[in-house]
Amino acid sequence: MSGGVIAIDGPSASGKSTTARAVAEALGFAHLDSGSLYRGVTVVALREGFRRGLTGANALAALSPETILRAAEDRGLMLQPDGTGFAAYLEGEPAEEALRSVEITAHVSAIAAIPVVREWVNSRLRAMVRAGQDVVVDGRDIGTVVFPDADLKIFLTASAETRAGRRISQRGQRIDPEYLDAETQALAARDRADSTRQVAPLRPAEDAIHLDTTTLDFEEQVQFIVDRARLIFARD
Ligand code: CDP
Repeated sequence: MSGGVIAIDGPSASGKSTTARAVAEALGFAHLDSGSLYRGVTVVALREGFRRGLTGANALAALSPETILRAAEDRGLMLQPDGTGFAAYLEGEPAEEALRSVEITAHVSAIAAIPVVREWVNSRLRAMVRAGQDVVVDGRDIGTVVFPDADLKIFLTASAETRAGRRISQRGQRIDPEYLDAETQALAARDRADSTRQVAPLRPAEDAIHLDTTTLDFEEQVQFIVDRARLIFARD
């Protein structure tokens, strides 16, 4: 028996992960953050490159996708139950801190554009649902590619500047105009890379509900999704 699926897609720093976690908590579902697996594969690839004396983009260019995925398996990259959902583990340890570094954020879009890496991530996400787990999954292509039959699809957006401001606050840093401008441009570059790639580009599913959170507060956006989910899952 397959579990229920709520897909939350959207651009960088649109609040997908925090929203997905809160929605999952309210409904008793598990939260799956697909981006954490792409970030985990990026950590593994850069470490594998480092072992061979290569850094950054040079490391990624020198390794075949098969070598990267073999290293991911060998180092035990996986999602494991953690609080209200699943978190990425590497070599038996929670990998959260390593996943969020500036270096990983700068290289993750290149890794996420590799088709076999996407298949590897997608098969892990689908296996959870096949096992009967009810999930809230967040990412870029969840409603379009990974779970096209999801019970509910949400596409979260917010202006680039709002998203940049949230990302800076999330890091506990002060928002000065120059920093805000640099962060807005970095987010826009990643959105461009994610939206224009050949495989599974970031775009809303035709049947997704669009939710612009620029002027919504966090509780309102979570409640909006929870209310819609309750209507759908009460019918089943
Ligand atoms: O936290 P943030 O929204 O900035 O990013 P994330 O959800 O952690 O995803 C990091 C990167 O992984 C994105 O910029 C995409 O390149 C890639 N990704 C993807 O291609 N497809 C997904 N379903 C999730 C993430």
